[in-house]
Amino acid sequence: MTTHYFTASSLDGFIATTDHSLDWLLKRDVDPDGPMAYQEFERTIGALAMGASTFEWVMRHDGRRWSYTQPTWVFTHRSLDVPTGADIRLTQGEIAAVHAEMVDAAGEKDVWIVGGGDLAGQFADVGLLDEVWVQYAPVTLGAGAPLLPRALDLELLDVARNRDFLCGRYRVVRD
Ligand SMILES: NC(=O)c1ccc[n+]([C@@H]2O[C@H](COP(=O)([O-])OP(=O)(O)OC[C@H]3O[C@@H](n4cnc5c(N)ncnc54)[C@H](OP(=O)(O)O)[C@@H]3O)[C@@H](O)[C@H]2O)c1
Repeated sequence: MTTHYFTASSLDGFIATTDHSLDWLLKRDVDPDGPMAYQEFERTIGALAMGASTFEWVMRHDGRRWSYTQPTWVFTHRSLDVPTGADIRLTQGEIAAVHAEMVDAAGEKDVWIVGGGDLAGQFADVGLLDEVWVQYAPVTLGAGAPLLPRALDLELLDVARNRDFLCGRYRVVRD
């Protein structure tokens, strides 16, 4: 079982603008069946975690339709509205305890920290982040939501070009 942080990023390390827009990303060209594409990655995933801003973006963007079939933990201190029928668990639990629940729920599959960057960092803080996949879009934003605001040593495992994107897959090196 591997815990991944898979995200797209600007070249200067932001995953959203300061006002949580992803317009800079959604206009880019990607081959869904190409190398290191999101679709194939998602098939390996049995449980997801995301922070409240990411959840709220998905809700705004997808018109309150929830497309993930996997159980999803949303970290928040608020009681957010959850779409009917979706397997979404709001939590402010300890990262390690939530991770253990996610691993149980994922069965043979892997765990995906969707974002944001600080939430992925919280998993890294307790030694529970294994891999970081970044799809770099050909743009700089100058400011925004940070990719991964931690000091981590990474090993490059794989690299590919998928149309507009430079894709890297890294292992988190632990002492
Ligand atoms: N480029 C991409 O592929 C990509 C991928 C993922 C996300 N994004 C975007 O990136 C942005 C990320 O936003 P963000 O930096 O604000 O991060 P976020 O993780 O999405 O949301 C942060 C919020 O999550 C809650 N939270 C985080 N850790 C918590 C904990 N341990 N316990 C309880 N609640 C916790 C807090 O919300 P409360 O105030 O509710 O407590 C916090 O303000 C979003 O716009 C998202 O759409 C982009």
